[in-house]
Amino acid sequence: MAKPAMRVAVTGAAGQIGYSLLFRIANGDMLGKDQPVILQLLDITPALPAVKGVVMELEDCAFPLLQDVVITDDPKVAFKDVDVALLVGARPRSKGMERKDLLEANGAIFTVQGAALNEVASRNVKVLVVGNPANTNAYIAMKSAPNLPKENFTAMLRLDHNRALSQIAAKTGKPVASIENLFVWGNHSPTMYADYRFATIDGQNVKALINDEVWNSDVFLPTVGKRGAAIIEARGLSSAASAANAAIDHVRDWVLGTNGKIVTMGVPSDGSYGIPQDVMFGFPVKCENGKYTIVQGYEIDAFSQERINITLKELEDEKAGVAHLLG
Ligand code: NAI
Repeated sequence: MAKPAMRVAVTGAAGQIGYSLLFRIANGDMLGKDQPVILQLLDITPALPAVKGVVMELEDCAFPLLQDVVITDDPKVAFKDVDVALLVGARPRSKGMERKDLLEANGAIFTVQGAALNEVASRNVKVLVVGNPANTNAYIAMKSAPNLPKENFTAMLRLDHNRALSQIAAKTGKPVASIENLFVWGNHSPTMYADYRFATIDGQNVKALINDEVWNSDVFLPTVGKRGAAIIEARGLSSAASAANAAIDHVRDWVLGTNGKIVTMGVPSDGSYGIPQDVMFGFPVKCENGKYTIVQGYEIDAFSQERINITLKELEDEKAGVAHLLG
C-alpha cells in the first residue's frame, strides 16, 4: 500500500531556489522515491502569478509522487499540518540597506511565520531555514513558536559543508564520497569555520594528508567562506541550484538518517562545546529515526576556538539586534 502523503511547505516558492527545489522534492529526491508529497507553496501576493507558472511546470512533469499543490500568500494556509517546512523566502538586502534594517525586515517575516507554524503545523514539523540571515531567522522562528519543540528548528549550513567537501576533494585529488568527518561550525556567513582536523579519506587523516596550515587559513577557509560572493560575481545571481541541493541533503538526512555519517546542521545549541543555549549554530551531527544528535568530544584547539569565537560573536550580535522583536 502507498504511504500517506507528507505535506511540505516551501516559502519563497517563486524565487530562484524555489525553481530548483520544488522539482526535486516532487521527484522524491528529498523524502524518498516511495514517499508521496503535497506541496504547500507560500509567497507574497505580487509573486503568486509566478508561483502559478511554476506549478504549471510541475504539472507538466507529471511527477508520480506529487499528489497536490497548494498556492497561498497566507502562512497559516501554507503551514497547515505540514511535516516539513522549508523557509526559503526572505527579504534580500537592497541598495543602501544597513545590516540592522535587514535583520529588522526579516525579523518581521520570521516572527509571523514562526507563530503560524506554532499554530497550525504538525507537532513533529521539521523546519529548515534557508533565507538569510539563516541562523538568526531560524532563531527568530523558533522563539516565535513556543509550543513546538526547539529541536524542530534548524538553519542551513549544508551548502557550506558541501562547499568544504568539494574544496578538500580538489586539494587532495580524492573523490568527494571518500571524505568523512568534515563539518562546519557556526553561522552561515563568511565567518563559518569549516573544520577538517578530524576528517578522513580512506582512513587517512585529511589534515596530515594536506599538511599545510597556511593553505587552511589563507586559502581554504576564505574560499569556502566567500564562495557565495564569488558565485554572485561570476553568475550575476546568488547560488540557487546548489542551495536547493543543500536543502534537499539537509532534510533527507534528517528524515531518513545518515547511517552513522557526520553532517553539518545549524541547530539550537544545548550548551555543547560551550556554545550558549539556543544559539542557532552549525554543529557536527548524526541523524537517526528522524532525530539529530550533536556529536560530542571533538577537541577544540586554540586556532579552532578563535574561529568559533568569531562566528559565535557574530551570531550573538545578530541575536541582540533582533531581541526587541521577540519580547
Ligand atoms: P529570490 O529573491 O529569487 O526569491 C525569494 C522569494 O521569496 C521571492 O519569490 C520573494 O517574493 C519571496 N518572499 C519574500 N518575502 C516573503 C515572505 N514574507 N513570505 C514568503 N515569500 C517571500 O531569492 P533566492 O535566490 O531564491 O534566495 C532565497 C533566500 O535564500 C535568500 O535570503 C538567500 O540569501 C538565501 N540563501 C541561503 C543560502 C544558505 O546557504 N543558507 C544559500 C543561498 C541563498
